[in-house]
Amino acid sequence: MTQSRSSDPALPIVELAGVHLTLDSGAGPVNILRGIDLSVARGERIGVVGPSGSGKSTMMMVMAGLERPSSGRITVAGKEFAGLNEDGLARFRRDHVGIVFQAFHLVPTMTALENVAIPLEFAGASDAFDRARKGLEAVGLGHRLTHYPGQLSGGEQQRVALARAFVAEPSLLLADEPTGNLDADTGAQVVRLLFELAERNGTTLILITHDNALARSCDRTVRLSDGRIVDDGLGRPAQAPATVAAQ
Ligand SMILES: Nc1ncnc2c1ncn2[C@@H]1O[C@H](COP(=O)(O)OP(=O)(O)OP(=O)(O)O)[C@@H](O)[C@H]1O
Ligand SMILES: [Mg+2]
Repeated sequence: MTQSRSSDPALPIVELAGVHLTLDSGAGPVNILRGIDLSVARGERIGVVGPSGSGKSTMMMVMAGLERPSSGRITVAGKEFAGLNEDGLARFRRDHVGIVFQAFHLVPTMTALENVAIPLEFAGASDAFDRARKGLEAVGLGHRLTHYPGQLSGGEQQRVALARAFVAEPSLLLADEPTGNLDADTGAQVVRLLFELAERNGTTLILITHDNALARSCDRTVRLSDGRIVDDGLGRPAQAPATVAAQ
C-alpha cells in the first residue's frame, strides 16, 4: 500500500461535503444527489442501503471520481478531487481505489486471469499474472482462469470483479451489490473473504447492498433516500426531508 502524507491514518479516508449532482435527462434536470455529507474513517466497513433509485450507485461513482459533482467537495485519502484532472483521477484510482461495479464491467475479450491482472499491469507490477491467479484462487475460481466473461455465470463474473478490485491492495474498496448475483452460501463466502482481505490490508470497505445480513455485518449502515443521507449510522438526527418533489 502506498503511504504518504496524503494518506495520514488519523484523517478520514473519505469525506464528502455538501455534494450535489444534477444531471440532464430528456425530461429536464434530475437532482440525483441533494447535499451529501459523509465522513468515513480509515479501516471502517460501511454498508450503504436505500431504495432503488435513491442514489447509491451515483454516490459511489462520485466517490471514485468517475462522476464530477455539480457542487460540493470530495476528499479521498487526503486528495481533493477538484484539484485533479481526468488523468490525475485515473492515477489516483489505480493507486488507492478498488471498484466493483453493479454490472461487473469485465472486459469481454479478456480471460478471467487477464481481467484481474489488468490493474496490476497498469501499475507496472512484474508479477501481475501470478498475483491475479492467487486472487482468483482466493474467490474460488482457480479452475476458471482461462474462461472469458461470456463463459462464466453471473456469480462467477461477480467474483472475478471482486478479485480484480482487491488485487492491487487498495486502501479503499467500493463495491456495488457485491453479493447481488450470488446464492446465499456463495454470497456469505464472498463476504467473509471481503472482510478477511480488508482486515489483512487495512482496507476501508464501502458496500452498497440490498442484503440486510451484509449491511448488519458492517461497522455501520448509511441509509440513502431520494438523494440524501437520512441516517449516517452514527445516531445523528436525519437531514430534513426534501421539500421538492422527487424527479
Ligand atoms: N445519467 C443519468 N441521467 C439522468 N438520471 C440518472 C442518470 N443516472 C442515474 N440517474 C437517476 O438517478 C437516480 C439514482 O440512480 P442510482 O443508479 O444512483 O440509484 P441506486 O440507488 O443505485 O438504485 P439501485 O438500487 O436500483 O441500483 C435514479 O432515479 C436514476 O434514474
Ligand atoms: Mg445502483
